[in-house]
Amino acid sequence: MQTPIYLDNAATSHPKPEEVYRAVNQVMRAGASAGRGSYQQALSAERLVFETREILADFFAVNASDRFVFTLNATAAINQALFGLLKVGDRVVTTRLEHNSVTRPLRALQDRGIVVEKVPADPLTGIVSPDDLKSCCLAAPTRLLLVNHCSNVYGALQPIEELGRWCREQGILFMVDGSQSAGCLPINLQALDVDLFVAPGHKGLLGPQGTGFLYVAKGLQLTPLMYGGTGGNSHSDLPPVDLPERLECGTLNLPGIAGLQAAVQFLQRMGINQVRATEKQLVKKIIDGLNSLEAVTVYGPADLDRRGSAISSNIKGYDPAEVGFLLDQRNVCVRAGLHCAPDAHRTIGTYPQGTIRVSPGLLTTEADIEQFIARLDALLRQKS
Ligand SMILES: Cc1ncc(COP(=O)(O)O)c(C=O)c1O
Repeated sequence: MQTPIYLDNAATSHPKPEEVYRAVNQVMRAGASAGRGSYQQALSAERLVFETREILADFFAVNASDRFVFTLNATAAINQALFGLLKVGDRVVTTRLEHNSVTRPLRALQDRGIVVEKVPADPLTGIVSPDDLKSCCLAAPTRLLLVNHCSNVYGALQPIEELGRWCREQGILFMVDGSQSAGCLPINLQALDVDLFVAPGHKGLLGPQGTGFLYVAKGLQLTPLMYGGTGGNSHSDLPPVDLPERLECGTLNLPGIAGLQAAVQFLQRMGINQVRATEKQLVKKIIDGLNSLEAVTVYGPADLDRRGSAISSNIKGYDPAEVGFLLDQRNVCVRAGLHCAPDAHRTIGTYPQGTIRVSPGLLTTEADIEQFIARLDALLRQKS
């Protein structure tokens, strides 16, 4: 059996830093729930949750840790943001690159009377023109502009700094799906003029599955999506007014949060610029390797500065599902198909079969990539 090569970090990062596994284990053995008791174990659980919020706030350069709401994943954060914000008659402008975790809640909201407009991306690069987004926003009164920072299909990065500034000037709320960029690129939430930002904890942030967060800028109040116990204000049958408790009911995923804390501290020690430089190098190596093979088409921006870590390609004469299957037989984990983003594939012209998506992570090695390219080359030679 060949050694496994994991190149599906856009789904969830693997491996995680050793200290993440250790932190999860330690916290599970310690017991107790955060905010649910005044004994020592419960208080240290509460401290761990508080510290993790502080670490996240520091990592994303914003002085407001109480505005970070822990969620199960990015999807839960997106649903809380959209259902908690939008009212009948509101207009939302978004892109044709969004993941189903955005398009499906928006579709459900559309059925309830919210107006949704989707702006197309450039088919070659996957970049959405900021001017097109702005003119769509100005075509009718708009409540929210929602943009995917890094496409999970094209890897294309959208100019969120420019869009945030513009939305602030126009009085339009700005939301960013940072699912493929958080932990991979420097993101300064204070400077970004972003009102809502969502991220999974388990992708670029290198934390465990079952983690994610929603950042809500100061001054914005959302209606909770779920109601229940929060450990405080127990006399009232209303949810707390203040964040984060307002949007966090039920027992928190303490092992996940402990793992996320260890993961973000790992990233902090490395430094986000070094993280970005390392991942960029891995992306370059994969693209160069794919381009060295005959009949491979790589999609997305040629400029590495406009790219995150998801690399989509196709091989002439092959269905992507077949390539995924053949690579799996050689113990290479990549993702074939539509990647929960059918509109992005309609844009490239790869709908309905999709593409083969290869996504390295921070702990992917150069040797992994060399092996991947060698195994892909061998299977193409075998078949031809
Ligand atoms: C762009 C984008 N948004 C949202 C999500 C959903 O993330 P999660 O699985 O953490 O809910 C993904 C996951 O692949 C994604 O790529």
